[in-house]
Amino acid sequence: MTSVREVFDTMEYGPAPEGDAAAREWLSRHGARFGQYIGGTWTKPAAPFDVSNPATGKVIAQVSQGSKRDVDAAVKAARKALPGWQALGGHGRARYLYALARAVQRNSRLLAVLESMDNGKSIRETRDIDVPLVARHFYHHAGWAQLIESEFAGHHAAGVVGQIIPWNFPLLMLAWKVAPALAAGCTIVIKPAEFTPLTALLFAELADAAALPAGVLNIVTGDGDTGAAIVAHDGIDKIAFTGSTEVGRIIRKATAGSGKKLSLELGGKSPFVVFDDADLDSVVEGVVDAIWFNQGQVCCAGSRLLVQEGVSDRLIAKLRARMETLRLGSPLDKSVDMGAIVAPVQLERIRSLVDAGKAEGAEMWQPTWACPQDGCFYPPTLFTNVQPSSTIAQVEIFGPVLVAMTFRTPSEAVALANNTTYGLAASVWSESINLALDIAPKIKAGVVWINSTNLFDAAAGFGGYRESGFGREGGREGMYEYLVPERLSETDDLAAGRAARAASKSTRGSGAVRPLRRAAELDDPDRGAPPVDRTPKLFIGGKQVRPDSGYSIRIIGADGRALGEVGEGNRKDIRNAVEAAHAASAGWSKATGHARAQILYYIAENLSARADELARRLDALGVGGAAEVEATVRRLFTYGAWADKYDGQVHQVPLRGVALAMNEPIGVVGVACPEEHPLLGFVSLVAPAICAGNTVVAIPSERAPLAATDFYQVLETSDVPSGVINVVTGVTDTLARTLAEHDDVDAVWYFGSPEGVKAVELASAGNMKRTWCEFDRRAWLDSREGEGREFLRQATQVKNIWIPYGE
Ligand code: NAI
Repeated sequence: MTSVREVFDTMEYGPAPEGDAAAREWLSRHGARFGQYIGGTWTKPAAPFDVSNPATGKVIAQVSQGSKRDVDAAVKAARKALPGWQALGGHGRARYLYALARAVQRNSRLLAVLESMDNGKSIRETRDIDVPLVARHFYHHAGWAQLIESEFAGHHAAGVVGQIIPWNFPLLMLAWKVAPALAAGCTIVIKPAEFTPLTALLFAELADAAALPAGVLNIVTGDGDTGAAIVAHDGIDKIAFTGSTEVGRIIRKATAGSGKKLSLELGGKSPFVVFDDADLDSVVEGVVDAIWFNQGQVCCAGSRLLVQEGVSDRLIAKLRARMETLRLGSPLDKSVDMGAIVAPVQLERIRSLVDAGKAEGAEMWQPTWACPQDGCFYPPTLFTNVQPSSTIAQVEIFGPVLVAMTFRTPSEAVALANNTTYGLAASVWSESINLALDIAPKIKAGVVWINSTNLFDAAAGFGGYRESGFGREGGREGMYEYLVPERLSETDDLAAGRAARAASKSTRGSGAVRPLRRAAELDDPDRGAPPVDRTPKLFIGGKQVRPDSGYSIRIIGADGRALGEVGEGNRKDIRNAVEAAHAASAGWSKATGHARAQILYYIAENLSARADELARRLDALGVGGAAEVEATVRRLFTYGAWADKYDGQVHQVPLRGVALAMNEPIGVVGVACPEEHPLLGFVSLVAPAICAGNTVVAIPSERAPLAATDFYQVLETSDVPSGVINVVTGVTDTLARTLAEHDDVDAVWYFGSPEGVKAVELASAGNMKRTWCEFDRRAWLDSREGEGREFLRQATQVKNIWIPYGE
């Protein structure tokens, strides 16, 4: 008789295929040919291209290559639908979102099978992960729609949004984009990826069946050219993109200066950090989910395994043993772990990067079982002996390839983890919660999973730092991506700002150095005694320094009289200021909210003590001095108040544990201050930035910088640590562009001209820094527009730290 042991030893998996009849029937009902879904109707198929099943290489459908005309028709339909969709109100929209969630659940099997056929991902994942998360997203956002009037008071919908999504989670990425946009009251033109358009088309049908009003959701298929047409279209108010950093950069440049709101969710090279006290068996399963989930085609895949030296050999041995048992094969087989790579071009990319790894001397290991030869399959792969600077350690492979490196100390682990231009996600494994929670804030990433990996939920925002993009999807922060703060209508303050701007136009941004006037001009007897000459310097690293250029700019008062000269800062001064801001960043970002509050109050106190002198200075510049100083003191109090109150959140995610949403500073922020309100405008931007823990390089008003140079004397007596606020005077647009080009600046805020906005947004594409640019005047004196949460949101980025607990 066969023993149980023998059964276990010889047992093989039999095939367990999921039926695909319903999906085939759906395809054939459409003749396997699809047009565009625009304004609630389907266009005739045109300019067809093939859609293949990557597991078999067989063509399963043809979809249409969206033309500029298609995009234009879709934008028009979305624009037409916008007023009605907004007039429905939050509750009306919530009912539609709820209906969509239910429709996804009712059709979950069809969606899961179609997704597996189109993308090659295993049915186990589409059925148990993708589709349930899609439904969850619509439910969650039905809730935000319901609450929108109360929870997002003072905001309105961004308008018509263009959304471009990738092929790795086709339906899930659609849900991440569509659900918040609909909840906010936006109407949509969305383009699925050319490799995987089918579930989006099925979703259009479900939306139609749910009687979503015509034009609210438009789906245009096509490749990058269609995407580019959406990005370029004038009728679009916001672009949301997920995909490669390379295309993200193209989109950043294409939208620069257009006034379009932008969110980018880009690539990653996420670290998976294992300390020597981690539970190694759990770690092994974690690695499987980190890098072999979806064949490693995951933007937040844990693709860099960083292991503490003492346990490295043991972990690598365990991993290899586990890799031998992974099952790879037909995506529709319910018992496979890994399906197919999405397309031959991606398979080629993986192969060539693996070849590069071998050529660079890293050691490659793959399981002994044979990978299917037909179809787009690639086996799980592990590299050891990898140099941190090598290609495979730096470039996103987007395939089932793990690169392992070792570290000795926690600080070395952090340095290695951050040794990337990306910053999307990270996993930290340790049985010591102390250690894990010490490491999590130090890793520059939008999501950190502790003793877990690749956890997602609609309630917890997702998105990156650095070249992984900006903006969040999911959670409250994700809703803001589709909303804009309401502006006050025209006020006196705004009109005054406009006049100030007009007056300054002749000198602003010219870049020309105005020659010194002759002494006789200064001593014009008709104008009374000359003021005592003042030549304020730049303020860098807590010191007053002369400008590198050796040039100055003459400042003329409201009465036409010279008030003094300020240094004309240049590229070198900006570099020095950025260096000083960086040096101060580590300490300042760790300072407690209480400590930062005290300093902000102290600045206010010292400013108040010099109120009369500053008011006179401002009067001379033609600004209502007393009111400006008073408002500035109040503003400093506001951010002193906020410093210990801009809390994060604890999200209710469906797991036994918590997800902590922490508001983290962005880093070094370059701030080009508005021309009007030379003191209040400066403080209205610099104060929230430092309140949140950033350090700042500020360019004061070009026409009236003396208010800011007086202000730094206040800083010198207010315990502000050196380098936290640096002031470089000069030609605003030239200096702002230099800041935007600088790779060590993490965000640039620019309040100036439309041309200046464009230049800053274009230059920011270098390291994909966050920008906040405006050319419309703000009512700086009005607290509704000049201060508050909007400023703090701009000054922070949300990091979600997931902490499962329990035995
Ligand atoms: P991609 O970034 O080219 O494609 C993503 C989407 O952008 C698709 O819908 C595509 O049609 C569209 N697109 C392409 N060019 C465009 C343009 N100029 N303007 C507007 N839209 C455009 O990604 P691709 O080529 O499919 O994959 C290449 C690499 O990108 C992958 O190997 C991977 O490293 C990375 N990637 C990262 C993703 C992520 O989620 N972070 C998703 C997909 C790819």
